[in-house]
Amino acid sequence: MHLICDIANLREVRRTWQTSGKVIAFVPTMGNLHQGHLNLVREAKKQADIVVVSIFVNPMQFGPDEDLDAYPRTLENDKILLEELGVDVLFLPKATDIYARGLEQQTFVEVPGLSYMICGASRPGHFRGVATIVCKLFNMVQPNVAFFGEKDFQQLQVIKAMVTDLSMNLKICGITTTREVDGLAMSSRNQYLNDVERKLAPTLYTKMHALVSEIQAGRRDFTFLTGEYKQQLAELGFSPDYLEIRNVGSLLQPSHEDSELVLLAAAFLGKTRLIDNLQFSIKTSV
Ligand code: PAF
Repeated sequence: MHLICDIANLREVRRTWQTSGKVIAFVPTMGNLHQGHLNLVREAKKQADIVVVSIFVNPMQFGPDEDLDAYPRTLENDKILLEELGVDVLFLPKATDIYARGLEQQTFVEVPGLSYMICGASRPGHFRGVATIVCKLFNMVQPNVAFFGEKDFQQLQVIKAMVTDLSMNLKICGITTTREVDGLAMSSRNQYLNDVERKLAPTLYTKMHALVSEIQAGRRDFTFLTGEYKQQLAELGFSPDYLEIRNVGSLLQPSHEDSELVLLAAAFLGKTRLIDNLQFSIKTSV
């Protein structure tokens, strides 16, 4: 596995692959890799000749009161895991190269609408930071295909919209969320949970399933229903941020004709913010 920290070096290597007609897959990450990330890499290996993984903890997507400094950084272990999977290039750009003119001056990419709702409403500027870094990394790596986890469902929709809107020439693949045996969606932030919180954490997903079952059994009073489940989560010890039922593609409030939906959830357990989602279908009246 080649370690590349310099954008010019990456471009040079990229040129040699291009001339030999290789299909290039890209998995952008912020490191602290877990099985969820590794499953993205495994899928990338299946679909391409060359796999590039990046690790960059992107300051632009963290709010002023968020965990940028505390975000777990485990580079040596990450390298071993990626080497074992046969990754071709680990790209480790420096913040001073990525934001060469400083964060304040940085040109940005923003996907309107999708970036402002749900998680975007709770974390203003977050999706601008994500879209900007992903766009920049795409320009550097120039992949044919890029892989993202469905756990960050709204992020995936934002990136797909950016690729469409800016006519970017690559395919975006969303990969099913990887879960612990008790159902908790894997996330680097799970390690912030203490023992009591960790035991309680999978209940979020259990409650999401229960909510979806009620919808599939016929309930359509979505606002009331999500309110009830927020209350149940609060009684269990969560501080729910949102519980939203949306159209799976647009993430808008569903109309009566929409049959493909997603339940999106975010809740704090102590200081840890958990997010999860569940896609489901319903019978419509039309
Ligand atoms: O999902 C993540 O880890 C990050 O948001 C991403 C896509 C690597 C951009 O920094």
